Amino acid sequence: MESIIVKGGNELGGKIRVHGSKNSCLPILAAVILTDDVCVIHNCPDLTDVSAAVKILEFLGCGVERDADVITVDSRTLDRCDIPEGLMREMRSSIVFLGSVLSRLGKAELYTPGGCEIGLRPIDLHISALKALGADIDESHGKLSCKRNAAFSGTNINLSFPSVGATENIILACAVSKGVTNIYNAAREPEIAVLVDFLNKCGAKIKLKADGTISICGVEKLHGCEFRVIPDRITAATYMAAVASAGGDVLIEDIAPIHLKSVISVFEQAGCSIDVGKSSLRIKSPEILKPVRNVRTMPYPGFPTDAQAPVMATATKADGTSVIVENIFESRYKHVPQLIRLGAKIRVEDRVAVIDGVKKLYGARVEATDLRGGGALIVAALRAEGQSEITNIHHIDRGYEKIETALGSIGADIKRG
Ligand code: UD1
Repeated sequence: MESIIVKGGNELGGKIRVHGSKNSCLPILAAVILTDDVCVIHNCPDLTDVSAAVKILEFLGCGVERDADVITVDSRTLDRCDIPEGLMREMRSSIVFLGSVLSRLGKAELYTPGGCEIGLRPIDLHISALKALGADIDESHGKLSCKRNAAFSGTNINLSFPSVGATENIILACAVSKGVTNIYNAAREPEIAVLVDFLNKCGAKIKLKADGTISICGVEKLHGCEFRVIPDRITAATYMAAVASAGGDVLIEDIAPIHLKSVISVFEQAGCSIDVGKSSLRIKSPEILKPVRNVRTMPYPGFPTDAQAPVMATATKADGTSVIVENIFESRYKHVPQLIRLGAKIRVEDRVAVIDGVKKLYGARVEATDLRGGGALIVAALRAEGQSEITNIHHIDRGYEKIETALGSIGADIKRG
């Protein structure tokens, strides 16, 4: 079993580039099949979740070619509407193929992606929205059989929570349709706006209104296009956490600073000095890190739940007590016992984590419990005295491209073992 080995204590310096966004690339790869044409997607990160999406596209009958970070998909040959359980379970976000396969072929047979490390992650909002649009959905023993008897004619959908995945599935189901669908209380994450940009470039008519409503005016047909995936804001946040934790002065390049506002303000609160450029930012760690009070994870533009664990790892260094409240997922503190193994002092009660900063962490063997929790362990290990070994790194490879090479390039002593 591979692991990541970190020897703590090196300050970080120099430049680091952020790869393309996993959470933006995945729905775009699901959307390409709506075009029945060829799409060329640039800046696709080299991650196992992206490989899982490619495998699904190939299984469905698409021609897929990958050349470095460019993925070309020819969906004219798509001829299957089913996705086997094994492929569905390779990644949770395989569920976004539900809307696109159903739209393209009028039926879809797939499996619920199941619970995962950070919570139950039900798909009730996806299902009820598709039913409201007129789909027949039969769920039994984890299998979903979905049918659309006629083209969707549009409706108004009120999401009780602005779910990212449900918003994406509704957009994918309705981009090619016969009527107007409005999504109220839609998710506002940047990945949604980018999915809309991609589809509009393919000929869709989708508007993001100022009040957050998404209005989809169905079109008859889409066409292929060339598109560039946005930078990964969570990887950028993790690199910021790494610099704040290890100490140093690093230029983080190829980012969209506008997507990082809430994250930047938390690191500023911690005393980091941050110079924001057009597509980069320079972060310098302070002599003494200050505690962060009331970091509350919220739907965008609030502080992202995906950055909670890396920020917590940084807060273990603060001179005082930090408080984090996790409002999005019910089990997103699984990294806490692992941080405690490294010497952190953290108490969790329900959704609240209280972190008492400690002067030193100590290298240990720890286990990545989920993707961002794994990122947090690396962030903590960078400042721990001695060597840490992080196991279960398949979680980390889902969302961080060659993290040992990336952090190694700015001075971290980190390798794959
Ligand atoms: C996406 C991101 C993930 C991020 C999350 C929140 C991708 C591939 N993943 O996940 O990295 O952490 O947004 O920003 O883009 N919920 C329901 N019923 C549903 C759907 C969701 O109760 O039908 C709940 C979930 O259990 C969770 C909350 O809503 O508590 C947010 O989930 P959602 O926004 O759907 O997240 P994902 O799309 O799964």
